[in-house]
Amino acid sequence: MEIEIKDLTVSVNDKKILNNFNLSIKKGEVHAIMGPNGTGKSTLSRVILGDNNYHVDSGDIIVDGKSILSLKTDERARLGIFLCFQNPISIDGITNSEFIRSAINANREKPVGLYEFIKDMEKEIKSLSMKDDIMHRNLNTGFSGGERKKNEVLQIKMLKPKFIIFDELDSGLDVDSLKIVCDNINDYLKNNPDTSVILITHYTRILNYIKPDFVHMMKDGHISVSGDYSLASQIEKEGYNKTSIQEEVNSVE
Ligand SMILES: Nc1ncnc2c1ncn2[C@@H]1O[C@H](COP(=O)(O)OP(=O)(O)OP(=O)(O)O)[C@@H](O)[C@H]1O
Ligand SMILES: [Mg+2]
Repeated sequence: MEIEIKDLTVSVNDKKILNNFNLSIKKGEVHAIMGPNGTGKSTLSRVILGDNNYHVDSGDIIVDGKSILSLKTDERARLGIFLCFQNPISIDGITNSEFIRSAINANREKPVGLYEFIKDMEKEIKSLSMKDDIMHRNLNTGFSGGERKKNEVLQIKMLKPKFIIFDELDSGLDVDSLKIVCDNINDYLKNNPDTSVILITHYTRILNYIKPDFVHMMKDGHISVSGDYSLASQIEKEGYNKTSIQEEVNSVE
């Protein structure tokens, strides 16, 4: 998918959070976004998904040439936009497999065959090293932090989105789980090379597994510096407030 975020200004309860935010993503690109707590990273991801709590004051989000601002969340999801939440919510009364199957069917004329669906889901559950019962339990109910994160990746592998935003996927995952999850994501991206990705993170560890094409530093509601992987290591070493990051990267451009 191609995504163009243009001069996006967003507020919640009259408080401005995103401030002239700009970002262009081409098909198949992975963009990492780093930035201090409270700078608007999760807000950006929720606005892309169409969360009504956030008011778009100005600017636009254009996906494959069309503005998505007038679309509701479910319509955006059906286009192939997927947000992997920082804190995935649990829902009682619908099992994991029912949830995923109805999401798949929302995008098809003929419902997916039950046998085919279960076989696929069992395969992905295995490759994510998840417990078998995860399929029949209520969505995220009682799931551990790591299980919730893995479950988001399970949904990705089943739903096959074209634009994925990972909001701190690495938080709550132990070292082994992080590797398994990243292997699964890399496998997905290899098989679906047109998929575009925003990877929000505070740490370079995940970027050693999933290689970003660009790294952006976000500050005060917009991108203040962009670079390649070396910007991420520099941020990790020096922190967000060192002006040397700004000067060095700018002087390279
Ligand atoms: N629904 C809301 N109501 C009030 N304030 C909000 C709301 N959502 C976000 N904010 C505020 O907007 C700012 C940005 O929040 P956001 O969650 O986007 O930050 P973040 O960059 O994702 O931070 P972190 O790295 O801690 O996850 C914060 O000051 C937050 O309190
Ligand atoms: Mg956040």
